[in-house]
Amino acid sequence: MHENLVALREAALSELAAAVDAEALEAWRIKYLSRKGGALSEAVKALAALPREERPVYGQAVNAVKAAIEAAFAKRQEQLKAAALEAELSGSAIDVTLPGRKPSLGRLHVTTQNLRQLYAIFAEMGFQVYDAPDVETDDYNFGLLNIPPYHPARDMWDTFWVSQSATPQPTERSLVMRTHTSPGQIRVMRERCPEPIRVILPGKCYRYEQITARSEHQFYQMEGLAVGKNIRMTDLIGTLQQFARRMYGAGRRLRVRGSYFPFTEPSIEADMDCILCGGKGCGVCKYTGWLEIAGAGMVHPVVLRNGGYDPDIYSGFAFGMGVERPAMLKYKINDIRYFYGNDLRFLEQFG
Ligand code: PHE
Repeated sequence: MHENLVALREAALSELAAAVDAEALEAWRIKYLSRKGGALSEAVKALAALPREERPVYGQAVNAVKAAIEAAFAKRQEQLKAAALEAELSGSAIDVTLPGRKPSLGRLHVTTQNLRQLYAIFAEMGFQVYDAPDVETDDYNFGLLNIPPYHPARDMWDTFWVSQSATPQPTERSLVMRTHTSPGQIRVMRERCPEPIRVILPGKCYRYEQITARSEHQFYQMEGLAVGKNIRMTDLIGTLQQFARRMYGAGRRLRVRGSYFPFTEPSIEADMDCILCGGKGCGVCKYTGWLEIAGAGMVHPVVLRNGGYDPDIYSGFAFGMGVERPAMLKYKINDIRYFYGNDLRFLEQFG
């Protein structure tokens, strides 16, 4: 074979073996195989300069070299592609045997758990849950509940007032963060009148108070309301006693004391015997043997009338109880601020 062709083939093959990436391979292709100025096309052109009798042999040889280096190129191209794929796969490895991350399961807030227990107990006694707004008018929170402006009973509730203007005036007092769940009484009555009513109204209440271990400026209450014909004080007491027994144990005793609320007449406070000492007296009940569970009473005639019911035909009872306080007693929680502190160490202990 023509020695130029042998040299060409050897050089091409050894340089090809040295090309380790796509870039080097492309440079090699241009140097040897490109139509314009590639080493192979130069070798083909050389054919024309040879004497006629040498041409067939040279032609065959050149074709053989061309076939050899083209085949080698194709093979090298495949090798480099496979190597690149291999590198990519081993570089960003997906280890399918790695165990998954365990999702951390949440749980219901201790207050939610307690509320649901309350709903269940009252549902069995025929009470529906009624949702009333957190932001109320002065009228619903006070006026319609028989607490007129400047009535001293307003001092029972330290109030957050909500301003509706950019430059609030001290006299502008029409919207409030509800200070108790009682305004919901008027809302249910106005919606249901003249149907009989048996509802509980759970929700957050707000008071402009100093935050301490015993009082937060936001807390839950649960109101109860029954309106109908022939509803009496004994129905109220029976309902609260039944509640105390289902919530805190079958043997619970209830006592009532006279009290005052502008929207009930007569008004009472209901106590049950202490769940810790059973009435003997301990630190939790402050050595009285009793724990207060609700403020309550017969719905005041003015309130019935404001709700649309004729007090000569209808009567009703209402009660209001705290939600956090009983939970504090039950779980021996000594600071109400934990309920809103968002501390998982506290929250994870319940449920
Ligand atoms: N709303 C009263 C309070 O917040 C509780 C109450 C409710 C009393 C219903 C009587 C009847 O103190």
